[in-house]
Amino acid sequence: MEQNVLLQLSHISKRFKTDLALKDISMELHQGEILGFLGPSGAGKTTTIKIITGQLRQTSGEAKILGTDSTNIDASIYEKIGVVSDNSGIYDKMTVWQNLSLFAQIWRVSNTRVEEVLKQVELYEHSKKQAGKLSKGQKQRLVLARAVLHKPRILFLDEPTSGLDPTTAVEIHRMLLNLKQEGMAIFLTTHNMEEATKLCDKVALLYQGEIVEFGSPQELCLKYNHDKKYQVLLDNQEEIVLEQTSENIGKIAEWMRKNRIQCIHSCEPTLESVFLKVTGKALNA
Ligand SMILES: Nc1ncnc2c1ncn2[C@@H]1O[C@H](COP(=O)(O)OP(=O)(O)OP(=O)(O)O)[C@@H](O)[C@H]1O
Ligand SMILES: [Mg+2]
Repeated sequence: MEQNVLLQLSHISKRFKTDLALKDISMELHQGEILGFLGPSGAGKTTTIKIITGQLRQTSGEAKILGTDSTNIDASIYEKIGVVSDNSGIYDKMTVWQNLSLFAQIWRVSNTRVEEVLKQVELYEHSKKQAGKLSKGQKQRLVLARAVLHKPRILFLDEPTSGLDPTTAVEIHRMLLNLKQEGMAIFLTTHNMEEATKLCDKVALLYQGEIVEFGSPQELCLKYNHDKKYQVLLDNQEEIVLEQTSENIGKIAEWMRKNRIQCIHSCEPTLESVFLKVTGKALNA
């Protein structure tokens, strides 16, 4: 395996009785990269994470995580990954500090590191609070703190901001970008296209168990920018949408010369509309 490839999926399929939940999934995750698995409910996102992390066995294909086959994961791999999923695994009766210090003992991590992580997720001042009394966003930050306590090389996040208010979501985004900066590779699932556009280096659009598109958010948006259009706001507040024809380009140039344009935008599609174009279905339908 190439050195900075931390995760490699080759032709993974998963069948639950008669349901084919994943079909021929192949992809790679590199060091310092955030990769997003994007798809509507039931697309197969959680199933993919479960297979990679050895919680579920695939029907066919191969997943390699840090050079080890996912069907063969042992403690030495679990020490190098962090997983955040729906079942948070936080003990409500214990304080914030106790929750982390329990895992610190398991991972043989120092109290200094516990302190450092609590400060990073801005929960240090809540150290003595019972975890069960935290707000939803605070709890999610505690879950994240626990997942990165041992400085994993790969972090798996199953919908990290689902159900959070926009401000808390932005805080989580900032933390994830910091972790990426430190060289961590992050595999996240989401059905929030804006989140994916902002965070991900690469995205896989997952639809009915299949990767229907793969690339950077920008690559995908440009690839589906078939009818190039420009939106112009003129000095008389008139808003005009123009297709890219030589006649219209002349018009725009003329307005520019006369200093008549207040603002101008190119109208390439968003990931949301790319998903709609590729699958014929809206993401959150
Ligand atoms: N243990 C299981 N037994 C049978 N079918 C399952 C099982 N786990 C998942 N599935 C099916 O596999 C498909 C993919 O489920 P999965 O949980 O991976 O979707 P998801 O993309 O994570 O959706 P969501 O956004 O709702 O979390 C669904 O049709 C689901 O019903
Ligand atoms: Mg899921």
